[in-house]
Amino acid sequence: MSVAAGTQAASRDSVPRHGGPAGMHPVTGVPLPEGIDRVLLTEQQIQTRIGELAAEIDAAHQGHEIVLVAVLKGAFMVVADLVRALRTQASVEFMAVSSYGAARSSSGVVRIIKDLDRDISGRHVVIVEDIVDSGLTLSWLVRNLKARRPASLEICTLLRKPEAVKAPIPVRWVGFELGPEFVVGYGLDYAEHFRGLPYVGLLDDAADSAGRPSSR
Ligand code: IMP
Repeated sequence: MSVAAGTQAASRDSVPRHGGPAGMHPVTGVPLPEGIDRVLLTEQQIQTRIGELAAEIDAAHQGHEIVLVAVLKGAFMVVADLVRALRTQASVEFMAVSSYGAARSSSGVVRIIKDLDRDISGRHVVIVEDIVDSGLTLSWLVRNLKARRPASLEICTLLRKPEAVKAPIPVRWVGFELGPEFVVGYGLDYAEHFRGLPYVGLLDDAADSAGRPSSR
């Protein structure tokens, strides 16, 4: 299990290389819910990093209004915190997609379940993702949104897994680089469970060996 802050060297030292103690919240000492082994990123670590990402996005978009395109369902928490941390004027759009293919990995063949409500041509767009794994879904989304002729198109993800580094997509803002483990919480689910946890946690062995969900 490993985790490191993304592009910001300044915050790298403040993030533990390993998660908290098994079975309890590392800050509050409260027992973790059944199915969660340990906390990998606390509420505070996530909020601090989102503040840093927001400052970088502000710096890159001085004077521009931006459109945040959040990919449902997982990114709903990231976008809610990010939009509050930004000083830049930002509108929020949601898109929901589902990927066809093998149950545990995305195939890159994507179907739109919910499209944007507004035209993004000529707008400065930032895609907001919860996690990039193979990057196949995101590659498809970038192609799809580019065809709508935005003035600019960039990507911000809270979490990135090692596989994603191989994907040919330029992710400008990364919150934390993770190991390959399956994580839940802060919008991320395991068969629709655990999305509401305010931290990012690791599943325990029993839950993990039951199989991972394919739904977004
Ligand atoms: P990709 O196309 O392989 O990058 O798929 C990314 C999507 O897979 C994310 O938006 C999540 O819905 C899901 N996903 C990948 N890894 C995890 C994980 O560790 N926990 C929960 N969902 C994950």
